[in-house]
Amino acid sequence: MRKFASGCVRIVGSGKLFIKSVRPRARRALPEAQGAVKDRRLMTSHTFAAANPLRGTIRVPGDKSISHRALMFSGLAVGQSRITGLLEGEDVLATAAAMRQFGADIIRADDGTWTVHGAGLGSLLEPKSALDMGNSGTSTRLLMGLVASHAITATFIGDASLSGRPMGRVIDPLSQMGAGIEASGGGTLPLMLRGASPAVPITYRLPVASAQVKSAVLLAGLNTPGITRVIEPVPTRDHTERMLTGFGARLEVGEENGEKVIAIHGEADLKPMDVVVPGDPSSAAFFMVAATLVPGSDLTILNVGLNPTRAGLLAVLRQMGADITEVDAREVGGEPVADLRVRHAALTGIDVDPAIAPSMIDEFPVLFVAAALASGTTRTSGLEELRVKESDRLSTMATALSSVGARVEEHEDGLTIHGTGGEPLRGSANARVKTMLDHRIAMSMAVAGLVSRDGVSVDDTSPINTSFPTFMGLLAEAAA
Ligand code: S3P
Repeated sequence: MRKFASGCVRIVGSGKLFIKSVRPRARRALPEAQGAVKDRRLMTSHTFAAANPLRGTIRVPGDKSISHRALMFSGLAVGQSRITGLLEGEDVLATAAAMRQFGADIIRADDGTWTVHGAGLGSLLEPKSALDMGNSGTSTRLLMGLVASHAITATFIGDASLSGRPMGRVIDPLSQMGAGIEASGGGTLPLMLRGASPAVPITYRLPVASAQVKSAVLLAGLNTPGITRVIEPVPTRDHTERMLTGFGARLEVGEENGEKVIAIHGEADLKPMDVVVPGDPSSAAFFMVAATLVPGSDLTILNVGLNPTRAGLLAVLRQMGADITEVDAREVGGEPVADLRVRHAALTGIDVDPAIAPSMIDEFPVLFVAAALASGTTRTSGLEELRVKESDRLSTMATALSSVGARVEEHEDGLTIHGTGGEPLRGSANARVKTMLDHRIAMSMAVAGLVSRDGVSVDDTSPINTSFPTFMGLLAEAAA
């Protein structure tokens, strides 16, 4: 257990939002021997400082998880699908590029509508070159599932962050189904996957709560004769189940011994459909916390997906005292959606129930920022999975928040944070916070900058483009 010193804080003035750009410098190229692809992005540091209240109305981009799946499933259907509201972030574009290599015809119209003519399940082409997954774990793991039951071979590569992430969790079930996989040391990228034809249906009980692993097995099951089953002891996001049903797959969701069981009937024929992608609750999260923390804020975030398997942060923030109301609750593309009106409120620290973690797994970095400004102590536990995200989010956030004056204790499976009671954080005038190629760390620390005395310098904001390319613009707009 590591302990971190406390920092001093005082009240911040209500200056203008200050986003200072520093000239980009080329990120150090990584040795090919490590298997990492060269990063084409330029590092761009920024300083985020005290903002005006966040006010008005904003619209966050499309849901990342749903966007990946919309491209994948429409790329497997026979006929033309249309996708509106697709997130055009780097991760999703990596999925689009891979689906094109598999033979799908994917076109973006000027109005932002995407049209997909699927390659057809069972008819995927062998990619001519390695599939560059960039920073995207979702693209990698789900597409590995897809290749696993096709008679093709594909090589998966990624950036330095992705190349350090565990793929054993998908290699295990996909190998059981008959795929041949040669991975780098410790089960990481780059890896080569030879699909099995036919693959063997399995019943797989998830050893970790992971929607990516669940989806990889279900995607492999799509082109596998017979019925493939996934047993999910802890429910995770269910976009795959919802959307595959819409595309015409035969999928049954039941319960055995209190655990969710999903059965997919193989050798399916997917029919095309029109998908409307709701706004991403994981992107809205940064604005929910920012508007809660910055005094005087009253911000409405339009069209936020509120699937119960994703809405954990809303419940936790409310438990801490946040003032967030759901307006015009409705359904978009088979998913519950509402506009969220967020008004500034004082927060109180709580013990976060570990059972809620899967429904807010990507939101913990920004929850830690909220906790750092709450009164009293917030304790989190059961968060081992955060150590294998785009970065080790427990240690990266503990280090980042401590460096700007928050009082944080890091444990094996969570953080304990002693909040300031609403007083601003000290900030980091001279030191740059390390974001470790992790978009959510960059955005969380941007929010911390808004409630700091000296501002928070983030070493690299370029990873934000993986999930939320309009983040900087929306932040400036909301705090104008
Ligand atoms: C995702 C599942 C989650 C989440 C990721 C997106 C998905 O990962 O962290 O950002 O789209 O299925 P795990 O399945 O590893 O928990």
